[in-house]
Amino acid sequence: MERLTSPPRLMIVSDLDETMVDHHKDPENLSLLRFNSLWEDAYRHDSLLVFSTGRAQTMYKKLRKERPLLTPDVIITSVGTEIAYGNSMVLDDNWVEILNNKWDRGIVQEETSKFPELTLQGETEQRPHKLSFNIDKSKVQAVTKELSQRLEKRGVDIKIIFSGGNAFDVLPQGGGKGQALAYLLKKLKTEGKLPVNTLACGDSGNDTELFTIPNVYGVMVSNAQEELLEWYAENAKDNPNIIHANERCAGGIIQAIGHFKLGPNLSPRDVSDFLECKADNVNPGHEVVKFFLFYERWRRGEVENCETYTASLKASCHPAGVFVHPSGAEKSLRDTIDELGKYYGDMKGKKFRVWTDQVLATDTTPGTWIVKLDKWEQIGDERKCCTTTVKFTSKEGEGFVWEHVQQIWSEETEIKKDDSNWII
Ligand code: GLC
Ligand code: MG
Repeated sequence: MERLTSPPRLMIVSDLDETMVDHHKDPENLSLLRFNSLWEDAYRHDSLLVFSTGRAQTMYKKLRKERPLLTPDVIITSVGTEIAYGNSMVLDDNWVEILNNKWDRGIVQEETSKFPELTLQGETEQRPHKLSFNIDKSKVQAVTKELSQRLEKRGVDIKIIFSGGNAFDVLPQGGGKGQALAYLLKKLKTEGKLPVNTLACGDSGNDTELFTIPNVYGVMVSNAQEELLEWYAENAKDNPNIIHANERCAGGIIQAIGHFKLGPNLSPRDVSDFLECKADNVNPGHEVVKFFLFYERWRRGEVENCETYTASLKASCHPAGVFVHPSGAEKSLRDTIDELGKYYGDMKGKKFRVWTDQVLATDTTPGTWIVKLDKWEQIGDERKCCTTTVKFTSKEGEGFVWEHVQQIWSEETEIKKDDSNWII
């Protein structure tokens, strides 16, 4: 969050399973990829992305390997009981302190074990401030009542959350996704960085609290669970700041950005011809997002207006511009584009996707920009990431000129002998 010097324009706080990630109807992650390009293109530089998930960090990391998730600025895991910042996911110790108030894990464990209706979930999901079980829906009310009374008698202040039709979480009273969001907003306010707008996105019971925080817009994605929709019908249906989207998952988030007029809501992935679309986006990050999208379409054989586009691309490369491949090989930028020609459509019908993450531009000297990003590429089930640095120059009133591109394999990427498929 340090990179922002002023209040973020938009803060999105989104659940992951069945909200950002569609586990059922979108095996190619198309909605998520649409959201990703929109975020990197129009929001990354001045906004904050927060994921708030029921998963613990271990299971969150697993999901990141399976799906093209962006890197959030803040990651809230284990149903709002763990808050961590930045790429290295530094835990917020103050939050831990707050959660310790009137909490005694041992007592909760002892009391919950007396209920045969509660089946303990896996080891990874049991956390210092979260005990999680599965339960039959018909037993929820009775168990909630009885357990709450018993724990109250023992002086432990808890909160019970029912989600997804079968999950039963026991947390400290001050925990949960809503309280974690309220805490984050308060912290940002103290730092003079209270977001101009905040949008909460969710699909299930543990997201309910997100929709109760003042001055926060909310979207329940079309595929929201019954328990969330019931809560909405009983408590919030007259609140114009909360909508039930008619699009699933990340598609619903994009819809909400448009509905509440929170900023641009046209994903570059929804633009079929970039030459037609003269964006009012004067951020060089836009050029990069657009380029790698073009690269995906090129290899998938889906680009319209091919020659005109490559010609315009070549014209925007400096004649002496150099491209450094992660293998270390150097080529002129213009030759690289010419060479791309022979790969047109070579990934047709294959599982091939390219996406960009953490696209951030800095203007080092007037007229010169350095854009840094992670470029991800997936071929079949294999994926690789290059940390990419692009130098642009720009003269008043003219477009951006590509001067230099350098790529290095990121740490997570495994390099094989035959890397001939990984062209740029
Ligand atoms: C996630 C967590 C699980 C929790 C559920 C509902 O699936 O992994 O432990 O019970 O969310 O909050
Ligand atoms: Mg969910």
